[in-house]
This record gives sequence, C-alpha cells and structure tokens, in this order.
Amino acid sequence: MDNRPIGVFDSGLGGLTVVKELMKCLPGENIIYFGDTARIPYGTRSNEAVIRYSRQSMGFLMSKGIKMVVIACNTVSSVALGTIAREFKVPVLGVIEPGAKMAADCTRNQRMGIIGTRATIRNKAYEKAIKTYVPNVEIYSTACTLFVPIAEEGWSNTRIALLTAEKYLDNMKAKDIDTLILGCTHFPLLEETISQVMGPGVKLVNPAVGTALEVKETLRANNSLNINDSDAEYHFFVSDLGEKFEDIGGRFLGKDIKYVQKIDIEGY
Ligand code: DGL
Repeated sequence: MDNRPIGVFDSGLGGLTVVKELMKCLPGENIIYFGDTARIPYGTRSNEAVIRYSRQSMGFLMSKGIKMVVIACNTVSSVALGTIAREFKVPVLGVIEPGAKMAADCTRNQRMGIIGTRATIRNKAYEKAIKTYVPNVEIYSTACTLFVPIAEEGWSNTRIALLTAEKYLDNMKAKDIDTLILGCTHFPLLEETISQVMGPGVKLVNPAVGTALEVKETLRANNSLNINDSDAEYHFFVSDLGEKFEDIGGRFLGKDIKYVQKIDIEGY
C-alpha cells in the first residue's frame, strides 16, 4: 500500500486522454499532472529539445514525491523514455510499448498503420516495439500534425477534420491495413472521424488503454497500489495558463478540471 501520487507528464493537455484511462482503471490513485503548455508542441521539435524539456518535467514531478511516472506523450515516449528511465530512480512507463502490444494483439493480417507527430514517426519507436511481437509485420506510418490543433480547437467532428483526415489517410487506406495506432495523445478525440475515413475493417488502437493496464500491473508488482477508500486527489500543473484551459482540458479528460496551477518549469 502506497498512497503517494502517480506523476504524469505531457507536452500540454493531450496527456489528459491518458489520465482519463488511468482514472478509470485505477480510481483510488492520486495523480499529479504536469502539462508543458508553454512549450507545446513537442512533435515538431528536435530530439535534443524534447529530452531537455523532459528532464525538467521529471525534475518537477520528483519534487512532488511521486511513486512512479507515466510519460503520457507519444513524442516524449519515442524520443526520451530510455534517457529518462536511466537517469531517474523511479519506475517510468511510456505509451509506446503498451500501444505496440495492443496493436500486435489486434492485427490478423499483420498489416498496420501508425499515425502520430513528426517526431514520433521519425523516431520509429512504435515500429521497433511492434517488430518484437510481430517480426513479419508490414507497417505504414504518416505524421498527422494538423490533428493536434484541430482537436484542441474542438473541431474533431467537423467537415474540416474529415477533409484533413482524408488528405492524410488516403495513401494508408490503399494499404489493406486492419489496425491503426492512434500514436498521439490528441488523436483519440478524432476517433470517429478517423474511423469514418478508414472504414469499419480497420481497428483503431488507443495506447492509453494499454498504458493504464500496465501502470496497474507495475504498481501491483511493486506492492505500491493505493488501496485507500477515500477519494483520489488530482492536481494539475502547467507551464502557461492560457485562456480556455479548463474548457479544452475538460474535453480531453472527459470531466471538469479543478486545481490548475502555473509553475516555472525552467527552474527545474
Ligand atoms: N502530446 C503529443 C504526442 O502525443 C502531441 C502534441 C505535441 O506535439 O506536443 O505526441
């Protein structure tokens, strides 16, 4: 029994789609979330920048006495997970490995697609992880950068989203894939639109679901589940508190957000 919080971080608000799954799967766990809203997007940045920002996010979460860390960002998980896990003395989980495992379990024809930010696609972390489960897999990947602002704007189910998805996914549709990984925290918000474009024969994989299960497994293995009956506490920290934070964040989390505080992340 360990009632210290789980630390979660992301480049901004997208990681709240991961927190949503954590809350469902582990309702008793306290969570401290940090979103680097001052420096989002990470997906178009260099690996050096993403690693530097991730170290600072880790420094902040460590200062809060967390028992483990979930990197709720596909870009950070593909670029910095190895470095972070080596440098900090706390269990660290990313979203790539659980997402890859879900996709491997899902495919029947061993042909799958991955969509994500430019950095996630460039670093090929999903490909490497999937190949350990399905060595002969055929993988097609595409960066879908514009899905990020579309999801934040609340336009996920509009004609603009549909046209953008058609433009990005047209090539992928011709590849006869049966599984598509939503390899970016924002993309589950566009699930309906993406599914409309890809058709019913393509299963969409949200890595957040597998990540939450893996967090539970890790805590159980380490004897650190919080089995307290009292209500879990959620604290949200950001590096810039812009307008509409609660609106956008609430949409990603699927419930109202309270206790948002701004911190100076450059100090960590
Ligand atoms: N959270 C990022 C991801 O999952 C998307 C937003 C960004 O580019 O920073 O890759």
